[in-house]
Amino acid sequence: MKNVAIAGATGAVGQELLVLLSERNFPIKSLKLLASARSAGKTIKFKGEDIVVQELRHDSFEGVDLVLSSAGGSISKEYMPSAVKAGAVVVDNTSYYRMNPDVPLVVPEINPLDIKKHKGIIANPNCSTIIMLLPLFPLYKAFGIERVHATTYQAASGAGAKAMEELRLESVALAEGKTFERTVIPHQYAFNLFPHNSSYNDGGKTATPTGYCEEEWKMIAETHKIFGDNNLRVNATCVRVPILRAHSEALNIRLSKKTSVAEIYDVLRNAPGVEILEDPSKNRWPMPIDASGKDPVLAGRVRVDQSQENAFDMWVVGDQIRKGAALNAIQIAELL
Ligand code: A2P
Repeated sequence: MKNVAIAGATGAVGQELLVLLSERNFPIKSLKLLASARSAGKTIKFKGEDIVVQELRHDSFEGVDLVLSSAGGSISKEYMPSAVKAGAVVVDNTSYYRMNPDVPLVVPEINPLDIKKHKGIIANPNCSTIIMLLPLFPLYKAFGIERVHATTYQAASGAGAKAMEELRLESVALAEGKTFERTVIPHQYAFNLFPHNSSYNDGGKTATPTGYCEEEWKMIAETHKIFGDNNLRVNATCVRVPILRAHSEALNIRLSKKTSVAEIYDVLRNAPGVEILEDPSKNRWPMPIDASGKDPVLAGRVRVDQSQENAFDMWVVGDQIRKGAALNAIQIAELL
């Protein structure tokens, strides 16, 4: 039984962490819910019990064994060292520690043993990366991958609970012919889409190639770290679409070994965390509403890429808040 704290408990991922801790019967001795001063004093129900939200502070972690952190990168940077100092292990959902060589970056279905190398913090990968890698890793193992390109269709949830609410309100306002003032998302989001709104210039902190946004760079660099293969050729185009909580991705994969569509389906059928969902006769393929609130990454539409040798296209959809964030973090905590 563990003393658990959630940093960012009132957020989109924090709320899902609570659902999953309860659903999966995580062995909890005590549960501390931490958020900003704005939320301190609010109550949140967990397994029928009201828990009062406390302000996240440096001294919040006394006696805590496990911190699930999803309050944003700058908050993790500021507070998680205090959690480690207090003796807790942190599973961090933000991007802040992901590329730190002392911090394992883990997808339990792919590199569970990396957890053993932790020095107090384990990072949860980027949501689009996790959703791409669940079907990609078994193909990588079975056939080898020459290159992969992902185009993402990303939901509002990746930008947090406030962005989801803004999408809902903006959709209603525009449908009624009213104007809407945005405060979270930079462009019209309802009835529109735009290339991902992460930074296109991260101030030279990483080797972000010119013209890429941070989200695209994360998919490339994190894949290398999780697979332990810096030579894998990965590329991405990230797009936000007006969907609430599940990301879709079109993957174009060139394999090393000559392979057929049927062999790919065979591998995907046995891939942990992946489910095939399709009925071509009804034009039925995985959709964000199929994946929302569900654990598996849904895959389908595997077909030959007519434009190059031994290359295939496929379509995958996964719940950004679940497998893309909270579920992966809880699976890491369960492994711990
Ligand atoms: P709060 O609700 O009090 O603002 P999301 O990713 O859905 O936007 O959620 C962000 C989470 O991070 C929320 O729980 C939010 O709490 C929390 N958070 C934001 N700023 C801080 C802060 N300065 N200190 C602690 N928690 C914070």
